[in-house]
Amino acid sequence: MNHLEVTTRSPQATQDLGYHIGKLVVPGDIILLVGNLGTGKTCLTQGIARGLGIKEHAVSPSFTLVKELYGRLPLYHMDFYRLDNIAEIMELGLEDYLYGNGVCVIEWAEKGLGELPEEHLLIQLSYLPDDGRSFRLQPKGKHYRDIITQLKAALDQQPGQDKPC
Ligand SMILES: Nc1ncnc2c1ncn2[C@@H]1O[C@H](COP(=O)(O)OP(=O)(O)OP(=O)(O)O)[C@@H](O)[C@H]1O
Ligand SMILES: [Mg+2]
Repeated sequence: MNHLEVTTRSPQATQDLGYHIGKLVVPGDIILLVGNLGTGKTCLTQGIARGLGIKEHAVSPSFTLVKELYGRLPLYHMDFYRLDNIAEIMELGLEDYLYGNGVCVIEWAEKGLGELPEEHLLIQLSYLPDDGRSFRLQPKGKHYRDIITQLKAALDQQPGQDKPC
């Protein structure tokens, strides 16, 4: 699959989408979240954390750039919101996270797109007019195409949920 569009109508549904993603990811996976303030990046990450079996509540890592959470796999939750430029990002030495054995989820990833691994799952979040949210998942590389194919199958099995287009 080349891309997948999913809509959610509640924070719970956003978390559930994240949960299914968290179930599918493997060590070294990179998920880049791009979307305006309040579109649901942290909410989605909370679901991913739950899917990874993490008990701790994921909050935006505002004061540290990276928050490490541990479940089935480590989750490295990053937020680039306060970073001004790409050089600054690279000076922070994120390689150990990006090329490690955990799963990286990066909010405001657009600030570092050129410097981040070429293969990743890009998720673009936006507001719907009725206050729901839309998620456009764009896989870069075969591994991530396989993930969204499996994700679609998992979402299709959920009764009563918003269906992906
Ligand atoms: N489908 C939805 N419908 C309505 N509200 C939602 C939906 N999904 C998430 N929300 C809510 O949107 C609000 C903002 O979510 P969240 O904090 O995750 O956004 P964010 O993208 O991380 O924001 P920031 O850019 O500040 O980091 C939260 O109150 C969350 O519960
Ligand atoms: Mg956030």
